[in-house]
Amino acid sequence: MSLASDPLPERPRWEGEGTSRIPFQVYTDEQLHKKELERFFYQGHWCYVGLEAEVPAVGDFKRTVVGERSVIMTRSAADEISVVENVCAHRGMRFCRERHGHKKEFVCSYHQWSYTLQGDLQGVPFRRGVKQDGKVNGGMPADFKTAEHGLTRLKVARRGGVVFASFDENVPSLEDYLGPAILGYFDRLFNGRQLKVLGYNRQRIPGNWKLMQENIKDPYHPGLLHTGFGTFGLWRADHKSQLVMDEHFRHAAMISTRGSAGQAGQVTQVSSFKESMELHDKRFIDIVPEPWWAGPTPPGRPKASEAPLGGSEVPEGASVGAPVPTAVMMTIFPSVILQQQVNSVSTRHIQPDGHGAFDFVWTHFGFEDDTPEMEQRRLRQANLFGPAGFVAADDGEVIEFSQEAFESKPFHRALAELGGRGVENTDHMVTETLIRGMYAYWRKVMEA
Ligand code: FES
Ligand code: FE2
Repeated sequence: MSLASDPLPERPRWEGEGTSRIPFQVYTDEQLHKKELERFFYQGHWCYVGLEAEVPAVGDFKRTVVGERSVIMTRSAADEISVVENVCAHRGMRFCRERHGHKKEFVCSYHQWSYTLQGDLQGVPFRRGVKQDGKVNGGMPADFKTAEHGLTRLKVARRGGVVFASFDENVPSLEDYLGPAILGYFDRLFNGRQLKVLGYNRQRIPGNWKLMQENIKDPYHPGLLHTGFGTFGLWRADHKSQLVMDEHFRHAAMISTRGSAGQAGQVTQVSSFKESMELHDKRFIDIVPEPWWAGPTPPGRPKASEAPLGGSEVPEGASVGAPVPTAVMMTIFPSVILQQQVNSVSTRHIQPDGHGAFDFVWTHFGFEDDTPEMEQRRLRQANLFGPAGFVAADDGEVIEFSQEAFESKPFHRALAELGGRGVENTDHMVTETLIRGMYAYWRKVMEA
């Protein structure tokens, strides 16, 4: 038994086989956090930076982060998105302060070095010195080359209107990075339709960034913790569901089909289930199935509309056979959660700030071809989410309270043994397998 006064080992001690007992130290150790930034956010991984729809016109930009580094995503040409680091090549100032804007060039206010939208250095004041009394004073050395002093440019990958960036030149393609199973769910949501940004939520959560990944890799808490989810039948442990990971167990998709269980059944034993609770404004869960929920119809398979299947949850155009998912929550390691919860779709960007806090930025979006009614519906359903959302407010709190406990006894460990101690894809959600999977990957990368 460790005592609080014992120094923590440099490498956390994992109890037993595998990763079902997670040392609190992985949430509390600043050195480990720095190593995570290096190994997950700055090398070998793609990080989410935004949606193309956020920067529609040439010169539009958005300031965001990769890990803890400030970066700028810019529409640098009609069909080009550049991502540059927000660190001036001169003396390192974080020159861009606006969150969003439009510029022809970037100018650092300190000494006015100016850069193209792609990040090339184009102007250096007093480069050739200043003439005084017939003599040139100062100036940059004759061998100074602007070409060698541009902003740091990140590698960029775009797919379906979503933009990812990496500091690592040798990162695999985004498609290989996601792997075929996760890519299929990614393409289901981002299937080529033009995206439309509906709005943002931002919140600071005083907890370790991995807790947010865990929260969305934990499929059974919503029906227990979130009164709203269980009571209104949006997400329950007895719904038909599937958990799918990439081959490294770092990314995952939780797929769930609403309305595929009995009305009350087991969930009436759950304390958060409130039979008498009702929504005053029913429009918050005015759900209308959409064709894309079924995913692409495999060739040769009849569409649902051509088959005598019916059922209110089967959208027009859906393929027959598998139940049509009404919610797919994807965790793309390490930086983003891609959400479809009935008609509400959003990206949730995890922006770490030290081991004990992160900013969580939600971009709610829709599609350019949505009807005005559908756009309204997406906006209304977005009330479930964000810092004051009917369900998401609970997650911020439990993460904060978990972090508080971790800090008080970092030598202890958490338990993730529901559904066993191994890691595998499942066809139910009564398991913590995705969390074990993420830490199997964590150990592989962090202990190498
Ligand atoms: Fe940016 Fe000097 S630090 S111009
Ligand atoms: Fe939750």
